[in-house]
Parts: sequence; C-alpha cells; structure tokens
Amino acid sequence: MNIDLKSQFPALNQEFEGYPLCYLDTAATSQKPQSVIDAMSNFYQHSNANVHRAAHRLSARATQAFEAVREKVAEFINAGQNAEVIFTSGTTHSINLLAWGLTPRLAADEVILIDSAAHHANIVPWQELARRSGATVIPIPLRQDLTLDEQAFLTLLQTHKVKIVALCHVSNVLGTINDIAALAEQAHRYGALVAVDGAQAVAHHKVDVQALGCDFYSFSGHKMYGPAGVGILWGRFIQLDRLTPLMTGGEMIDTVSFSGTTYGQLPNRLEAGTPAIADVIGLGAAIDFMRSLPAAAFAHEQQMLIQLRSRLEALPGILVYGNPHQQSGAVAFNLSGEHHQDIGILLDQQGVAVRCGHHCAQPLMQLMQISGCCRASVGIYTTQQDIDRFIHAMQDAIELLA
Ligand code: ALA
Repeated sequence: MNIDLKSQFPALNQEFEGYPLCYLDTAATSQKPQSVIDAMSNFYQHSNANVHRAAHRLSARATQAFEAVREKVAEFINAGQNAEVIFTSGTTHSINLLAWGLTPRLAADEVILIDSAAHHANIVPWQELARRSGATVIPIPLRQDLTLDEQAFLTLLQTHKVKIVALCHVSNVLGTINDIAALAEQAHRYGALVAVDGAQAVAHHKVDVQALGCDFYSFSGHKMYGPAGVGILWGRFIQLDRLTPLMTGGEMIDTVSFSGTTYGQLPNRLEAGTPAIADVIGLGAAIDFMRSLPAAAFAHEQQMLIQLRSRLEALPGILVYGNPHQQSGAVAFNLSGEHHQDIGILLDQQGVAVRCGHHCAQPLMQLMQISGCCRASVGIYTTQQDIDRFIHAMQDAIELLA
C-alpha cells in the first residue's frame, strides 16, 4: 500500500550513493506532491500578478485564486468564516503575530501558561510578550510518561491569574497528542485564552477548530505537503479583531494621511504587504491533495508509526521516549551511551534521513535530562520498505558502535 502515493512525490525518487532515499523527516518538512509543484509553476506561468490591487484582469485572476484558498482553508479547518483565516509565512510568524497582538491585553500580574513540550516557536514569542507586559510565564508540567499533567494544569489555573494558555496540539519531538478540547474547556472556565500550535497536527488528523474549542490555531503549509513560506493563523473573529497588528503598511489600511491612519477590516488588517501568493496557491493544492486521500492512507501512516516504534523498542540499547497511546507522526529515541548525531550520520550513510538534535525544544530536553535525541517521522508516503530499511540501518549502527 502507498507505493502509488510515493510516486507522486518526485523528491522521494532519488538515491544517495546507491541507496534509495528513505525519508523519515516529515516532521521537519514534508515532501511535496507533483500537484503542488505544478500548481505553483502554473500560477507563475499563467496568473502571476499582485492581489487586491489592480484594475486589470490578470490581477483579478490572481486575487480570485488567492481568496479561493482562504475559503478552502476555512473549510479544511471548519473556521466560522473566511475572515478568520489569516495568511502568514508559517507557524512561527503566526504565533509572533498573535503574541504581539495580545500585548495591550496582558497585565503585569497575569500569567501565560506554556506546554513544557512546546517548540521554541511556541515559547519565545510568549516570553517576549511577558517581557513587554511584565506578565509571568509558567511551564505546564509533564507527567513521567512526558504527557501533559492535566491535574497540575488545573491547579495552575486555580491558583494564578492565567490570561493565556499556549499548547501544542502534537509535540514535534514525541508525537504526543494533547486533548485540546478538554484543556481548552478547562482554561475557558478560568477566563484564559487558548492558543494552539497545530504545526505537527494538520498533516495527520482532521482538525476542526470549532470542535477543539480553542481561540487561536496556527500551522504551516510545508508540514502538510504544501510549500514553505505560507502558514495560517486562525482565530475566533471577535478575538482576532482585537489584535494589534504586528506589521503595518500597505494592504492593511483603510485610509492613510499624515494627520492619521485608519486600519482596514479582517483579514487584511493582519496581512500587511504583498503576501506569498504562489505559496498560498500551493497550499490550496496541498489541501486538495490531502482531501483526495482515502482514510486508509492515514490509517496506513499510523500503522507505519506504530510498527516503527515497536520494532525500534525491540532493538538492544534503544530508549524510546513518550507515550505510545497518544502518538502521531514522530518517534523520539536514543541509543544508550551514544551521541544522537552519530546515529544520524550512520543512518544517512544508508540513505535514511532522520532529524537529530534538540528539535527546537530545549526545555523538553532539559526535562528529559538529555542534550538531544534522534527523531524518525512518517508521512502518508511512508512505506513498509522504509520501515524495514530504517530498522536494518539501526541494527547496523548498533552493531558498529557496540
Ligand atoms: N519544527 C520542525 C521540526 O520539528 C522544524 O523538525
């Protein structure tokens, strides 16, 4: 199964010194199907013009295609309306836009709770917001199995003046899935806003922002089979409408004069400057691609992940991190007594691509008391052969380092 899917991804069809590429780094960035590459190329060949600005028909065509993607994204995540979908350059931009926009609403005696497993992109913008406002950042503890400690979360909500809760939907290191709906419901009971980093979730699960019940949700095109350079900040209209724009300039204004400027309406108010138009078109094609996949493709991907984890755990000296019952996309591991980077290099010598390091999650590494680890991550194009090749390369690495 999924061999046909793999053939739609041209970058997967290559060799490194005789070894076919075995790509297990989808959590860093997914490969792109031909349909996404073609959509962007077609746009540049036939429809390229700036959006929202000109009287000519080429611009009208570009604008129509661009706004059609906004509608597609809104449907994809079940947004309440198209204007709740803000185009950004990616998750990092989305969270910075949000954290900046909330600045006037945070008081010095208030608290921002952050998931201890969060990616740096979901930590540093909040630390900066705390620095600007005088508010305090408190990490939400994890349990022994590295899942979020809901009891500790509740205690924090009860004992502090929590204004913002920043969560990851799926941990980029461990693949751990948070129960966002339950956490958001609890946070709302205490009057907090809930912002979710969905970068590692959208490629693996149906995301319904209304069902999740959060206030803001961010994700990137490049992790869901689309191009880099485009991402989304979704927010409830009433909340987005209150954000102070991070970027000002063209596109986002209503009137400009030297005696004063007024801002336009959502979504434009938060989208200053020329957007990454072709990348937005590519994102639309990625959504079409994902929607064309049968449920069996996602079930197969999950099977590959489960198998990867269980076969890895059976190897001598291997430490696998996190909870297997709530896992999606990625498996983090180390070989006892060996440096993660060495494993990555040995795997690469057989054409197996994994990520090694702190994975932009240094606080999580500190909790785990490691300097880093390896991470193997899957996509809908991951095949049985990929898993076999990975396990075989790991066996060779273990033997060599023994
Ligand atoms: N955030 C990406 C990762 O986890 C780059 O690898």
